[in-house]
Amino acid sequence: MSKIKKTKIADLLKSEEFGKEVLVQGWVRTKRGNKQVVFITMNDGSGMNNIQIVADPAMFSEELLKSVTTGSSLSVYGTIAQSQGSGQTVEVMATEIIVHGLADADKYPLQPKKHSLEFLREIAHLRFRTNTFGAIARIRHNMIFAVHSFFNSKGFYNIHTPIITASDCEGAGEMFRVSTLNPKNPPLNEDGSVDWKQDFFARETSLTVSGQLEGELAAMAMSEIYTFGPTFRAENSNTTRHLAEFWMIEPEMAFYELEDNMNLAEEFLKYLIKYALDHCADDLRFLSDRLIEEERNKPQSERSMELIEKLKFVLDNDFARITYTEAVDILMKSKPQKEGKFQYQVKGFGTDLQSEHERYLVEKHFKKPVILTDYPKEIKSFYMKQNDDGLTVRAMDILFPGIGEIIGGSQREENLEKLETRMDELGMEKESLWWYLDTRRFGTVPHAGFGLGFERLMLFVTGMGNIRDVIPFPRTPKTAEF
Ligand code: 4AD
Ligand code: MG
Repeated sequence: MSKIKKTKIADLLKSEEFGKEVLVQGWVRTKRGNKQVVFITMNDGSGMNNIQIVADPAMFSEELLKSVTTGSSLSVYGTIAQSQGSGQTVEVMATEIIVHGLADADKYPLQPKKHSLEFLREIAHLRFRTNTFGAIARIRHNMIFAVHSFFNSKGFYNIHTPIITASDCEGAGEMFRVSTLNPKNPPLNEDGSVDWKQDFFARETSLTVSGQLEGELAAMAMSEIYTFGPTFRAENSNTTRHLAEFWMIEPEMAFYELEDNMNLAEEFLKYLIKYALDHCADDLRFLSDRLIEEERNKPQSERSMELIEKLKFVLDNDFARITYTEAVDILMKSKPQKEGKFQYQVKGFGTDLQSEHERYLVEKHFKKPVILTDYPKEIKSFYMKQNDDGLTVRAMDILFPGIGEIIGGSQREENLEKLETRMDELGMEKESLWWYLDTRRFGTVPHAGFGLGFERLMLFVTGMGNIRDVIPFPRTPKTAEF
C-alpha cells in the first residue's frame, strides 16, 4: 500500500470524493457485525461524529478482527464510500487495518454506555475519549482562540505575567508557597521564624493569585494589554465553582474609567458566546441534548433554559447595571429574605453577597446578566478607586445565570496618596510593593481592568454543572492525582 496522508475524521465526514483512497487513524468506539460484514466506528477527537469503517471478514484474519475492540487504536486504509446506513453519509471500505494498541475488552474502563461524571473524574486519563469531554476540550480550545482573537482585533497586547510572585494581589492570603527549603529543617531567625532570606528567591514567594498588578505596569506604557494565565488559590472551598488552579483573562486599560470597563467586559463576553455558537455547533448541540436528558426527571420549573437558547438570550439582551446599594435594597425586599429562605440573611450595606444572593438577582429578579458596581470598600481589594462618599469603591462584578460571579474588576486608584492611605488602613507593607506604587509616581493615569475566570465561562458555555468537568485536570482540595 502506498503511503498516503491521513485524513481527519471531521474532514472525511464532509468529503464527497467517493472512491478516493484514505488513511484514518484513531480509537475504536464500537464494533459489531457477522460473518459477512464487520462495522467499526472510530473517533480521532477531530469532531463529535464517528466514522464507520466497513470491513469484509474474508479480507482480514480472524485474529486481527478479534483484536479490534472498544478503546483499541487503529490505522485504517480504505476507500471513501457513500454510506448505506442512516445518520451518516460517508463511510470507509477497509483495505488494510493496522492495530497499534490493544485494549483488553474486559478491563477497558469506558464501556459503550453512559458513565457518571464522577466516575469519569476518576479516570481522567481516559475521559478525553468520551463524547462529553471531547466536546468540552474542543469548546475550550475555541474559547482560548477567541480570547486572543478578540483582543488582537482591538490592538491589545498579550503580556506574560509571572507565575511565581512575592505579592498577594487580592490580599486574601490564599496563596500556595513556593520554596526549596527543607520543610523538616528550615533555617530559622533568632525569634524562631523561618528565615526566607535563605530561600531560593531570598524572600517568601508563592504562586500568583492574579496577574493584575504586573498587568497594570504594562498598561502604563502599552496602553491596552491582557494577560491569560494560570492562577492559584489555596481557598478551601469545595464548591462546584471553585478550583485551586484556574485560568484567568485579565485585560488592563490605561485611560479607561468604570463605564468603559463595563462596556468592554460586556462586549467581550458576548463575543466569546457568539464565537462558540458560530464555531462549536455540533458540540453545543450534543451538550444541549445531554442536559435535556439529565434534567428529564426534574419538574418543569426547575429545568434550566435550553443551552443554545440560553446562549442566544445573553447575546440579545443588554446586561442590567446597578449599584451594590441598589442590589442590597432589592435583596432586603425579596421574598426569600422575608421568608428566611436565604442560607445567609442579607444584613444591609456591608453584607458580602453570597452566590445565592447573586443568583437571585440574576435568575429571579432581572432574569439576565447583571453588572453590580460600587461595592463597600471593606469587602474589596486595596487597589480599587475610591468614590467620594468615602464608603464605596469603583468595583464591578458581572453575575451570570447558573454561575454567579463570572467577572470581577474595577477602576484602579490612580492617586498615590489615596492608594497609600488605603494600604496603611489595611496594614499592608508598602515597601515590598514599591514597584507597583511607582506607576502612581511617574505618569499615573486613570485606568481599569477586570478578570474573567476562564472555567466559569466554560461552565456557562457548556451548561455543565461542576467546574471539575470543564478543565482537563482539576485541582481541588485533596485532589491532584492526574
Ligand atoms: O474577582 P477576582 O478575585 O478578581 C481578581 O483576581 C482581579 N485581580 C481581576 C482583575 O481586576 N484583573 O477573580 C476574577 C474572576 C472571578 O470573577 C471568577 O470568575 C474567577 O476569577 N475565579 C475563580 N474561578 C475558579 N475558581 C476559583 N477559585 C476562582 N476565584 C476567582
Ligand atoms: Mg471577585
